Amino acid sequence: MLNKPINLLLGDCLELLKNIPSNTVDLAFVDPPYNMQLDSTLYRPDRTKVNGVQDAKWDKFSSFALYDEFCTSWLKEVHRILKPSGSIWLIGSYHNIFRLGKILQDLDFWILNDIIWQKTNPMPNFKGLRFTNAHETLIWATKTKETKYCFNYHSMKILNDDKQMNSIWNIPICAGIERLKINNQTAHPTQKPQELLIRILLATTQEHHVVLDPFMGTGTTGAVAKMLNRHFIGIELDSAYFQLAQDRINQTEVLENIQYKHFVITKRISLGNLIEANLLNNNDVLYDHIKKNQAIINLDGSLQLQNSDIKGSIHQVATKIMNKNVNGWDYWFVVKNQQMTSINDLRKKYYNDFCADK
Ligand SMILES: C[S@@+](CC[C@H](N)C(=O)[O-])C[C@H]1O[C@@H](n2cnc3c(N)ncnc32)[C@H](O)[C@@H]1O
Repeated sequence: MLNKPINLLLGDCLELLKNIPSNTVDLAFVDPPYNMQLDSTLYRPDRTKVNGVQDAKWDKFSSFALYDEFCTSWLKEVHRILKPSGSIWLIGSYHNIFRLGKILQDLDFWILNDIIWQKTNPMPNFKGLRFTNAHETLIWATKTKETKYCFNYHSMKILNDDKQMNSIWNIPICAGIERLKINNQTAHPTQKPQELLIRILLATTQEHHVVLDPFMGTGTTGAVAKMLNRHFIGIELDSAYFQLAQDRINQTEVLENIQYKHFVITKRISLGNLIEANLLNNNDVLYDHIKKNQAIINLDGSLQLQNSDIKGSIHQVATKIMNKNVNGWDYWFVVKNQQMTSINDLRKKYYNDFCADK
């Protein structure tokens, strides 16, 4: 039943998770109801209404105890379904993340990291009564303390220009053409940015791994899983959201034909940033200045030297070729409009367009 690359299930995950066999999923990404406990309508200073998650029926629980009971039920199922090598990502806000963390530990999951997703463009605090809430927290945990889990450390380091990726991720909230609309209105109040899921799946899965999302909403996880050639099981209770997710995932192509459209704004610029900004593409060829050596750009911003098994960051591959320390930004060129262009010039362009004075 669930052995197709993409499996989308309409219904209550508390019921449907029971049908998934034990030890079959490599990674669960879970973005559950937040239980925001807001009962008054939220207005902007110009008195327009904020269509937020506080209006959603699916987010309402009459007590913390009922919310905890709900979360314990699906987390138990997810624990059963994960392979012994499996891991889970949970995302939440201050309303629910501490409760989720406690339940997770009570069920024998083993927490590896908490990640702060810092929103580069957060919604203001309209009433001016608190600090602007500019982040959500993600917890990354394994099935047990002993789990031998998947972590693509080197891909993450390369994505961060050869510096260890740390636990604070600057990513914009989902906006612009990526944000799904129905009749010009936001289709779902909590659609997550693709960039967040791209980073998570690149970091903690391999191609063909099975990814589960029991609260899939608009299908962000499924779209990214398909894009990156992972298998996917998604569950959604609401039939309108389910339809949105299904259409979105059907229309998604695997990454060869797609460039990233969103940017991680950082002053430490990586080759991955240039790919995200369409200044370079996955599978582009880079050359040294006399075109003696050439390398293909991989999905994660790493290079594969042609006719060789040398691979790594722009710096590592150049250093291996030259047998001494080389800065890859000065070594590699790409042919643009029939002209050799230094990737360092593309890096400067990226900086001027996206980072200067930000
Ligand atoms: C926080 S949203 C997920 C948003 C999603 N990550 C995205 O990017 O669009 C939670 C979703 O869970 C769904 N949901 C709530 N209770 C559910 C249940 N018991 N079973 C399945 N889905 C449920 C809601 O309809 C909502 O779409």
